[in-house]
Amino acid sequence: MERRISGTSRSFPTGRFARSEEARLMPSVIVVGCQWGDEGKGKIVDYLSAQADYVVRYQGGSNAGHTIRVGDQTYRLRLLPSGVIHRKKVVIANGVVVDPEVLLKEISDLKSKGFNPDLSLSDRAHITLSYHLLLDAAEEEFKGSLRSGTTMRGIGPTYTDKAARYGIRTSDLLDPEILGQKISQNAILKQKVLSQVYGSSAQISEDDLLVTCKKYGDELRKYIVDTSIVINGALDAGKRVLFEGAQGLLLDVDHGVYPFGTSSNTAAGAACTGAGVGPTRIDEIIGVVKAYTSRVGAGPLPTELTDDTGSRLQEKGKEFGTVTGRRRRCGWLDAVALRYASRVNGLTGIALTKLDTLAGFNPVKICMEYKADGQRISDQPSSVRVYSKCVPFYEEMKGWPDLSESEWATIAKKGYDALPKEAKDYVAKIETIARVPVKIVSIGEMRDATINRLGVWKTSFKI
Ligand code: GDP
Ligand code: IMO
Ligand code: MG
Repeated sequence: MERRISGTSRSFPTGRFARSEEARLMPSVIVVGCQWGDEGKGKIVDYLSAQADYVVRYQGGSNAGHTIRVGDQTYRLRLLPSGVIHRKKVVIANGVVVDPEVLLKEISDLKSKGFNPDLSLSDRAHITLSYHLLLDAAEEEFKGSLRSGTTMRGIGPTYTDKAARYGIRTSDLLDPEILGQKISQNAILKQKVLSQVYGSSAQISEDDLLVTCKKYGDELRKYIVDTSIVINGALDAGKRVLFEGAQGLLLDVDHGVYPFGTSSNTAAGAACTGAGVGPTRIDEIIGVVKAYTSRVGAGPLPTELTDDTGSRLQEKGKEFGTVTGRRRRCGWLDAVALRYASRVNGLTGIALTKLDTLAGFNPVKICMEYKADGQRISDQPSSVRVYSKCVPFYEEMKGWPDLSESEWATIAKKGYDALPKEAKDYVAKIETIARVPVKIVSIGEMRDATINRLGVWKTSFKI
């Protein structure tokens, strides 16, 4: 980081080297989930947005549910970047799959609350249509025990179309000729797949789809631009850009617990391809880590607790899916997953959330390794068969006392040193596991219940 900062501007006063001194300190930060999603990315992105100029979503779609709590308001965002609550410029970049129905509703809901999103929507983003939702349901049923328990938002089928080159992009909505060809092709194909492969009685109407897409085009036209130009231009001008990940590493289509994940790359690298920025432009990667594990949907979860402790975590943490309302499965922190997430994402720091929820549990446990088939396993296995046999090997730590909301608020004001000693020991343990500093500690749902321990935008340090 420092290497790049020193001695660059004087000899090359144009382009990316023309950034101002201040902006050159961490102008671009990626925030990613390090577990199975719902780590609190929305809260952390909202918190960091205060100092950002642009906030960018770059993968996933309306399967995401990012919660922000400010004052007496709760915002649950599925497509708009969380920076919208701080009234920052927001970008939905090319890597996101966009359900226009969800996006338009989200915009109108926010408008009714007094926000007017300053949105740029990529001309290359793929759109989710009604047949993607039908296919999502049909595929899940067909997969049986290998289904991942999707959010039913058409995410898999939309990314499938993108890779198979059947997809419809936002710019196609504005081009009647290409739109007509693509809709016709998709209406025929999807009807056949739905009725002949999956035995569905659903009827797909090409005419209805065309009318709907025309409406989407008319309503979204004003937002559609080449967002790579917007983002790179912002970085050239020394603006601060925050990249907001969705889902979490263990749901990544390559690195997650395949096939029990989502259909996009959720790892930090996806911010570059998903937003059209080069890897050289990224300064910091903050991994959001929940102090324990939660998982909504199907698939093996080694540290899952099906006992009283699991229920207590679920209840105390109010662990219900933001998008589907499903109960989230809960368990102890998994250090194998955390080490893996730190490595694959190339983290420079961690934002640790829900330290307040874990308070009152004594002892607290961390899974340091797994055991399967008589072997010790310390790296994430690729085989889901092996993974489903993994039994956690726990290390115990002394817990810290439960405190009232106002006591946590006082700690947030006083700063990191005011945390109970055992909680700080837990933070130190996480740093040792992930080999990066915990820069932010979150101790409540509210925006203010956050300790900016090491200043994400200002400093960089390695332990
Ligand atoms: P995301 O998908 O990663 O943005 O996370 P979600 O919003 O789906 O789920 C995280 C939940 O935890 C939300 O209800 C947040 O309001 C809440 N939350 C985030 N950080 C904290 C924290 O430090 N303490 C508590 N008690 N709740 C938190
Ligand atoms: P955020 O951004 C938690 C899970 C689903 C399912 C699998 C595939 O809020 O953290 P999909 O609909 O993507 O095809 O579902 O991934 N999943 C999430 N779990 N948080 C999310 O997003 C998720 N997005 C998808 O439950 O198991
Ligand atoms: Mg969520």
